[in-house]
Amino acid sequence: MPETITATVTGIDPLSAVMHPDPYPYYRELAATRPFFREQRLGLWIAAGPSEVAAVLAHPDCRVRPATQPVPAALAGTAAGDLFGRLVRMNDGAAHAPLKALLMPMLAAVDPGVAAQHAAAMAQMMDPGEHAHAAMTAASVNRWLFALPVVTVAAVLGLPVTRDRGTAVEVAQQVAAFAAAQSPLADADTARGGAGAARWLGTWLDASLSSVAADGPLPALQRAALAAGIEAQAVAANIIGLLVQACEATAGLAGNTLLRLGRNPSAGGMPLQGVVARVAQDDPPVQNTRRFLAADTGLCGHAVKAGDTVLVLLAAASTSGLADDARAWTFGHGRHACPGDRLAQALAVATVSALCARGAEPAALARAFRYRPSLNARIPHFL
Ligand code: HEM
Repeated sequence: MPETITATVTGIDPLSAVMHPDPYPYYRELAATRPFFREQRLGLWIAAGPSEVAAVLAHPDCRVRPATQPVPAALAGTAAGDLFGRLVRMNDGAAHAPLKALLMPMLAAVDPGVAAQHAAAMAQMMDPGEHAHAAMTAASVNRWLFALPVVTVAAVLGLPVTRDRGTAVEVAQQVAAFAAAQSPLADADTARGGAGAARWLGTWLDASLSSVAADGPLPALQRAALAAGIEAQAVAANIIGLLVQACEATAGLAGNTLLRLGRNPSAGGMPLQGVVARVAQDDPPVQNTRRFLAADTGLCGHAVKAGDTVLVLLAAASTSGLADDARAWTFGHGRHACPGDRLAQALAVATVSALCARGAEPAALARAFRYRPSLNARIPHFL
């Protein structure tokens, strides 16, 4: 069986690839030789070729959640489950399209230069100030990766995080706790932490919405949502959702950029935007996403059944060299494609610059790290 042979030859499978030191030869082989197949051991269909990845993401019966489980079991019935259940990212059809149609232009209109200014201001505020350009510890680099992009998105949206360091740090921690609870690897404590974080974020946002910057994008979003008949709770959940979406993936993009800079000193001479764009394409932080079949149907020449799951290897499509356009699959494709792709790259550039300006040394960081345990996100944890 080819599946078994590949697994034993390389000691890698489509899930362990996420944390593998170099999964790209394996991804290229899959994309070229088995672009769509059933992985019996994992109980998943695997889409690895660019056309197959595009076909799955475009198929009307391929949904972002299983029909029988709109919210992960560990979160169901908690504040985290309520929040999760309202996210555009986790819904299809009527619960997705109208709000997505408002979020797309809102985020596309964010000027990357303005986002960079917010990031620089937030970095200064988050600065405890005592290290004055001495090398940053790995632990503070890890903290900054998870905090700066999130509080910058909050600042871009006009949320009140710019007044004091305590609020900014707290918001970042609560967002990270909610994001962590969404992982299928989350244990009971992490799931409980996610529920507490969802409650905290909901209360904070409620209190904040009355004082958001009038010239920021949120008042217009709320007015447009009201006019479109979208309920206020869905809007609030998705504002929190933007902070959550910015958290792990952007930490991964900035972290993988630090690795790239540390391993290739010559990359340090290139404009950082270019390095980040390359990393997004060839060492992406989001390696895969999933789709769940809502009906028996044909997909990429195979008969698939309602309830089946497809693991969509975005990173394989992106690095296969087979795509006829240069689109970074990293940000998805089609109905659920990431509306924050440009902003995310600006945030990663700003985060890496802020860290390097504070004495972070990519070469030293790249010598000691591991990947955080994850089935889909490739995020270095520096040691
Ligand atoms: C490097 C950073 C990022 C990466 C790699 C990334 C990647 C992705 C991917 C792959 C998807 C599609 C998931 C799927 O189809 O299953 C997605 C969706 C989404 N992303 Fe991002 N993202 C990043 C940063 C951001 C940021 C900064 C924001 C907003 C501030 C954002 C907002 C969203 C939203 C709202 C969705 C859901 C869209 C929908 O379902 O219609 N993302 N992202």
